[in-house]
Parts: sequence; C-alpha cells; structure tokens
Amino acid sequence: MPEEIITIERHILEQERAYPEATGVFTSLLYDIALAAKIIARETSRAGLVQILGLAGKTNIQGEAQMKLDVFANQTIIRMNFYTGRLAVMASEEEPDIIPIPEGYPTGRYVLVFDPLDGSSNIDANASIGTIFGIYRRRTSAGPGTVEDCLQPGRALAAAGYIIYGSSTMMVYTTGNGVHGFTLDPSVGEFLLSYPNIRIPAEPKYYSTNQGNEKYWSEGVRRFTRWLQGMDEENPRKPLSGRYIGSLVADFHRNLLEGGIFYYPLDYKDPSNPKGKLRLLYEAGPLAFIAEHAGGYASDGQRSILDIVPDILHQRTALFIGNRDLVEMAERFIARYG
Ligand code: AHG
Ligand code: MN
Ligand code: MN
Repeated sequence: MPEEIITIERHILEQERAYPEATGVFTSLLYDIALAAKIIARETSRAGLVQILGLAGKTNIQGEAQMKLDVFANQTIIRMNFYTGRLAVMASEEEPDIIPIPEGYPTGRYVLVFDPLDGSSNIDANASIGTIFGIYRRRTSAGPGTVEDCLQPGRALAAAGYIIYGSSTMMVYTTGNGVHGFTLDPSVGEFLLSYPNIRIPAEPKYYSTNQGNEKYWSEGVRRFTRWLQGMDEENPRKPLSGRYIGSLVADFHRNLLEGGIFYYPLDYKDPSNPKGKLRLLYEAGPLAFIAEHAGGYASDGQRSILDIVPDILHQRTALFIGNRDLVEMAERFIARYG
C-alpha cells in the first residue's frame, strides 16, 4: 500500500489533468460507479442476513434465473446513472434492450455498459463475485442514445473497470493511462489506492478454465491445455497451477496480479454450431481493455477481442485472456489443430 493516502476520487481527478480534453463529467461518472460499488458491496457483505440470497423468481434475457443480488446490483447502477445527465444510454446484462435515459432528463456524452453482478452462481456459496463496466463516448450526436451507441468494439472504450466483492472490496479501472487498483476501507467508505500501475507479471503462475467442459472443446484447445500442464512433449514447459473460481472477475483479477491465463473456449456440443458463453459487450470487452493496458492480451481464439464489433447487445464469445504469450500460444494451437 503506497504511503500517501490517495482516494479514487483524487486519483481520477489527477488522471483527468493528464487529459486536458477530459471534462469533469467523465470524472463524475467514475465517481458515480465507485459510489454504486460501495452500495452493492454493503449489500453483498450482509446478503446472508437480509434474505437477499436466493433466487429473485425471475429469469433474465440470457434465460438465467436472476439472483436477488443481481437485480439489486442492476437497479443500483441504473438508478445511480439515470438522472445525472452524463449518459446518453446504458446496456446491462440483466436488461433485454438498451436502457434509455427517462423522458425529461438530460442526456450526456457517455455510454455505460455493465454486468452488474458477475459470478452470480457463487453468491450463495460466499465465493468472490464482481461488477464489470465499460464506458464509451456516444456515436450519435444528440438526443436519446441508441443501440448503435452501445455496439462499439472494445478498442473504442474510454474507460473500463471492475469491482470485486471478495475478502476485501477492490475497484480496478483504466482510462488507458495505466491500470490502477483501489481497496475499499469500509471504516471511512473510501476506495484507497492500493495497486498503482498494475502490470501482468511476465512469469505466469495459473491457468483458469472449467475443465468439466473439456469433452466439448476443440482439438486445439485440448492440446493447448496439455501444453499449459507441461504434458506436450513437442513443446515442453513448466506446468502451471490450475485455479478456477467460476467468477470471471475473480479469476481474471488473480491472473492480473499473479500472471496467468483464463479461458472459456467455444463449446462444440453441437459441432455445427459452436457457442461461446461469455458476453462480448460487458464481460470480455472491458476486461480485454484492462488486460491490454496491463501488458496482457485477450482473444476469441482467432483475433483480439478489442477488434470485434458486436452485432447484438448480448453477443457471446469465446475468451482467452491474460499473459500475451499464453494467449498467442492458444491462437497458434487453434490455428493448427482447430
Ligand atoms: P454471470 O454471473 O454474470 O452470468 O457470469 C458468470 C460467468 C463468469 O462469471 C464465469 O467465468 C462463468 O460464467 C462460469 O461459467 P461456468 O459455471 O460454466 O464455468
Ligand atoms: Mn458475468
Ligand atoms: Mn452477471
């Protein structure tokens, strides 16, 4: 922990000075997200006590049963950003369509895309969960934002970040000027700078994937996994340790700090229609932006996640993310073996 006390608000303001064209609006938008995170963190830390665990009795556009905490987190972020006049439009994993700014309220220059609660299946098991967000500049010139404002490639992001509700609550974000981590001090309700300028360590430690799906992976992904485990005689390497939490944010965060690769490859259960599970717009894209600004890389197995232009809000993708050399090796195995 650096000796001086730097709150996320002060850090964002200092970042803003590095970008003369940045208006205070962008800074305020990041504040708003930090505030929503504190509220969600409070609810998450006492979820077991206030009967907010369990199912909300509804399903979302993904056809997944919504957890009460999913719904709470989604509503908290939406309410925090509805009336500020900073956004033109929002898109959330938990909402089928774009979330327009209510009639009669001003619209702004930015677009917020988010996964309000990532790793929902872990909520009742008290494993780490998180929130993922990306901020774009709107593409349309004025008036209510449109779906076109949301369907932008990750490379166009103005900022991206996540919050991880774990043993401590951390917020990690980048505006393209380094990746910075803040730890919530609940006694003062402030996120304090704890990991300035995060860089993925050159020497990876972990590989993270759900090997229960191995039966449905392609040949290339299976061979890549054997290589990671040091079992490829043609390309010998030191075996990596397996770590899989089942919350993308938690698995990504560990690999960002310790070095490693997370991958959720295409599922070939139906060989004629291979499917990705993770969502491009509000899971893979923002984390790919963070990974690249920390010296890493993210791919769908063929190309950079940041170059994929979404056709629809809830578009799914395969995801390989972490140390650049490991992700590029995955691409080579897939290119060679499919
Ligand atoms: P969400 O809770 O937002 O739906 O995301 C869950 C995702 C991601 O967090 C995680 O990496 C993945 O689902 C786990 O999937 P499996 O349970 O199939 O491994
Ligand atoms: Mn998610
Ligand atoms: Mn989610």
